[in-house]
Amino acid sequence: MIYSRIVSTGSYLPPRRLTNADLTAELAAQGIETSDEWIVERTGIHARHFAAPDVTCSDLAHQASLQALASSGLQAADIDLIVVATSTPDMVFPSAATILQHKLGITNGCPAFDVQAVCSGFVYALTVADSLIKTGTAKRALVVGAEVFSRILDFKDRTTCVLFGDGAGAVILEASDTPGILASDLHADGRHKDILCVPGTVSGGQVLGDPTLKMDGPAVFKLAVGVLESAARATLAKAGKTDADIDWLIPHQANIRIMQSMAKKLKMPQEKLIVTVDQHGNTSAASIPLALDSAVRSGKIKRGDTLMLEGVGGGFTWGAVLVQY
Ligand code: ACO
Repeated sequence: MIYSRIVSTGSYLPPRRLTNADLTAELAAQGIETSDEWIVERTGIHARHFAAPDVTCSDLAHQASLQALASSGLQAADIDLIVVATSTPDMVFPSAATILQHKLGITNGCPAFDVQAVCSGFVYALTVADSLIKTGTAKRALVVGAEVFSRILDFKDRTTCVLFGDGAGAVILEASDTPGILASDLHADGRHKDILCVPGTVSGGQVLGDPTLKMDGPAVFKLAVGVLESAARATLAKAGKTDADIDWLIPHQANIRIMQSMAKKLKMPQEKLIVTVDQHGNTSAASIPLALDSAVRSGKIKRGDTLMLEGVGGGFTWGAVLVQY
């Protein structure tokens, strides 16, 4: 039996960091009222990073990938599959993954494609890469979550523009005799497409409709808590594990209240919850690999630890992956 395991991680945040005070001042200049107190109390967010106007999704993905490659000791040419989870690619097509392949100087013709599942994108991408390794199609996959959500925010809508940030995280997944990815569980329910979406599109050379993010926050909140718990439980059952086997919980970093309630439902102490939403905001598909890399680099997560990764986002999509690191 072939399994896949995470060899290394990497991440990148664009240098421009805005605290709540910075963002509040910028919004106030446009007549939009918010406060550090409101943002912290409702979300746990203190700061986020925004990419410069000329920096694209694949630029962030490139930096995170270089760090993951450096930590693995592998060369870019060793990669034989690239999967990028993003909802904010550089262009309509080609995919951010093929652009990333070129930036990494990979000319071995390996498959490269994007996965679009909004904030669940990374758990979807990791599951797809794991499956392709298990079938023998790939041996070393670069799996990236990268977003420039600042590009699709309406800075006149205070209910959404304070929540998101830009960044990228990457892992290298390698074929192995022993399991690293223990189990996963993915779902979608398109009936909820309108509660979280960017409804615009491109047609005849024009943007049709609204190209900025719309979210019914309370509706998303309510759905997220329920589906995250069911995905975590299904994943544990598939792996023959229980709550007590999880060493670290790495949920999608959207809202500290959703994350803390997940830890409670899984009977985990809050210290076992990896939190980066406070410093990164919600970076959509990038949030889980960014949180994973930060916990690996800080020494919290050690080899052999069992990690529960969980994502939920637009679509509605959701899923979980149980990893033995
Ligand atoms: N500053 C000040 N006041 C604000 C702001 C702001 N930035 N935004 C909203 N308010 C006000 C509202 O106008 C409202 O005022 P009112 O009571 O006078 O009408 C009040 O605050 C409460 O608004 P709610 O939307 O009910 O606030 P809530 O407590 O639900 O928090 C939040 C909003 C943070 C968005 C929350 O609902 C949430 O986190 N939802 C889940 C988001 C999530 O998990 N997303 C994951 C997927 S993201 C993806 O896939 C891209």
